[in-house]
Amino acid sequence: MDARVHSLALACKGFLDDEEGLRLHALAREAAALGPVLEIGSYCGKSALYLGSGAKAAGGSLICLDHHRGSEEHQRGEEYHDPDLYDAEAGAVDSLGHLRRALRQAELEETALLLVASSTSAARLWSTPLGMVFIDGGHSHEAAHADYEGWAHKLLPGGILAIHDLFPDPAEGGQAPIEVYRRALESGDFAPLPTTKTLGVLRRLG
Ligand SMILES: C[S@@+](CC[C@H](N)C(=O)[O-])C[C@H]1O[C@@H](n2cnc3c(N)ncnc32)[C@H](O)[C@@H]1O
Repeated sequence: MDARVHSLALACKGFLDDEEGLRLHALAREAAALGPVLEIGSYCGKSALYLGSGAKAAGGSLICLDHHRGSEEHQRGEEYHDPDLYDAEAGAVDSLGHLRRALRQAELEETALLLVASSTSAARLWSTPLGMVFIDGGHSHEAAHADYEGWAHKLLPGGILAIHDLFPDPAEGGQAPIEVYRRALESGDFAPLPTTKTLGVLRRLG
């Protein structure tokens, strides 16, 4: 990964470990040759810089899908609320400006297409087959399963499904992402690839 973009990714606000980010970069670099890479949950752009630089190296594209209103845990009074992202006039979280700045600084504005929408609305209208889907949006049971139902089967055979925040021990974190990972495996449509920390990775079968 380009050293300048890597240091921007490290400095970007967000929720992604560097080893997981570098794995996403390598996966996007491979998968973007097959079809567009789509991430659900861009927030301020941390994962987008790892994925986008991988997609760019392969001559491909990244779709950054996020409504930018934050997940439940980002709302005022919640554990991960960031006052820098609060738009007082709108009375809502707004992370879109941070994403745009991160992409501009990393020279990824031509590679990344921003889809400012809820995951379910976008999935209903989206029909282009994808090379990779990274699920890191809402972490409630309902949101995580809706992301899987809406997007996983838009992957091309050989495409990559990556799911963030797998915690086998419920004491360490929410269980919705790992439920989705197990659901994908049980569907018989995906084969497991090695996991990196909390990042689960599967390949769509033909
Ligand atoms: C955990 S953060 C993503 C972190 C990011 N991938 C990173 O590397 O820092 C989750 C993001 O998902 C978005 N989100 C949550 N539910 C969503 C939904 N139903 N549709 C679109 N975006 C959603 C939130 O706005 C938030 O920005």
